[in-house]
Amino acid sequence: MRILITAGPTREYIDPVRYITNGSTGQMGYACALQAVARGHRVTLISGPVHLPRPDGVKFISVVSAADMAKAVLHEFSDIDCVIMTAAVADYTPAVISDHKIVKMPGDMQLHMIRTMDILAKLGQIKNNSQKLIGFALQDENARENASRKLQEKNLDAIVLNDVSALGEKNNTIQILRRHSQNWQIIENMPKSELGITIIDLAESLCD
Ligand code: CTP
Repeated sequence: MRILITAGPTREYIDPVRYITNGSTGQMGYACALQAVARGHRVTLISGPVHLPRPDGVKFISVVSAADMAKAVLHEFSDIDCVIMTAAVADYTPAVISDHKIVKMPGDMQLHMIRTMDILAKLGQIKNNSQKLIGFALQDENARENASRKLQEKNLDAIVLNDVSALGEKNNTIQILRRHSQNWQIIENMPKSELGITIIDLAESLCD
């Protein structure tokens, strides 16, 4: 299979030295990439800034912002059988990036942010019948309800619900819901490296 994996956080610059990001370390996506390569799949890994070794045997594309990631994913998508979208893509980006370092002024400051493209939702609109999409959700309220709504709204084939406590940790508990199913598969407190096996099993079964 040709598998596209996104991983890590994105970075939304405010000025040349400051940016908004999140605590994603990329472990989950890199674990999926290692496992997919080990099984002989052709892997494209599109990664935000992380401190992980680049896996051997992948086509590696390094990106910084949500806009960069959107551009790279849309460029690669037509040749792909399955997308595994583990990246923690920023939902908002500063409306203006200052060319110069912002100098502090007396009093508070306000930052105007605008929405980024929802990459997965876009893929859900343009995919063909044989292309499969696996999304991730990170929720701490009404988690299953929200994740299952995202599965429908973004036209995904499966969604992996992560625990908020998993961000940056080595272990994770995940729950998987497939399209047209009511049954959540629960995988408890497993090292992220091994969760790569579960996710690639899922990708293979979707493309069967
Ligand atoms: N995603 C994306 N493009 C974005 C934001 C998110 O493709 N601009 C993808 C992520 O890679 C992930 C899934 O969408 O696979 C997460 O969905 P999202 O709607 O952002 O949900 P949560 O982050 O779980 O929650 P919230 O609704 O609070 O943003």
